[in-house]
Amino acid sequence: MTHFLDIHKTDPQDLRSILDAAGRIKNARAGRTKGAKDGDQVLDGYIVALIFEKPSTRTRVSFDVGVRQMGGETLLLTGSEMQLGHGETIADTARVLSRYVDLIMIRTFEEEALLELADHASVPVINGLTNRTHPCQIMADVLTFEEHRGPIKGKKVVWTGDGNNVCASFLHAAGQFGFDMVFTGPETLDPERSFIEFARSKGSSVEIVRDPFKAVEGADLVVADTWVSMHDSQTTKERRHNQLRPYQVNEELMSHAKPDALFMHCLPAHRDEEATSAVMDGPHSVIFDEAENRLHAQKAIMRWCLGL
Ligand code: CP
Ligand code: NVA
Repeated sequence: MTHFLDIHKTDPQDLRSILDAAGRIKNARAGRTKGAKDGDQVLDGYIVALIFEKPSTRTRVSFDVGVRQMGGETLLLTGSEMQLGHGETIADTARVLSRYVDLIMIRTFEEEALLELADHASVPVINGLTNRTHPCQIMADVLTFEEHRGPIKGKKVVWTGDGNNVCASFLHAAGQFGFDMVFTGPETLDPERSFIEFARSKGSSVEIVRDPFKAVEGADLVVADTWVSMHDSQTTKERRHNQLRPYQVNEELMSHAKPDALFMHCLPAHRDEEATSAVMDGPHSVIFDEAENRLHAQKAIMRWCLGL
């Protein structure tokens, strides 16, 4: 079974071939009218279940549109409306869904739920975000970086703020694609050691630099994300805001990075908190390219999972 569960669990050659395919898929659509189906209807007859236990705009729409463009159909399911939210085990849900659908994408809370689903499904499972990682996002981000700046290998990526699930997948990607990472944020919000160790074990440099201005020196890419993730308790909000304010990405901070540094944010953003509107809408920003590339990258991921 070819699942797409995490970047560190996927062979680097497969990751590269997924990105190459994403580029081809994107180019093949260039010039086609909006809403047109893809020339090769590879998902004709396929049905994809999209399970959301957390809110989503981009993941939900990009997977749904991607499947439809390839000629397939989707079932949009929310955990709370399924028996999953009422006591049925994940293992049984996996076995049942596998009898009906050809592919499952799930956004959930605990990573264990994703892994249990994948263990018991007899169709491929794709990770659409857990509390720990967000691999589809970072595939789109690497695609976006390389479209603008060429190979990401050897580049310096600076993560600002909370060492969260999106940061974790960036660290996995650093190891697999061979770029270096700097984390800048408060010590209490450092990324988990295992994510850092994975990148280092593959030969990538990972540094923790508390001073955000020092951290971004020489950066090819500066990344921000929300200060409070969906799985974080809202009671931590005020404390986190106070801790993270010095790490806001604003024009002054960007001016310390390389002059042609890119700025990324997976969105949704809280404008003028983790990043200012001047940066989000400014010349360094590629945030809407990232959002678009979710579509192309995930179409390539689905095709890879299904061997199409
Ligand atoms: N970036 C991202 O995954 O966005 P959504 O939460 O809107 O899906
Ligand atoms: N870190 C954010 C990413 C949202 C796409 C969250 O988990 O809420």
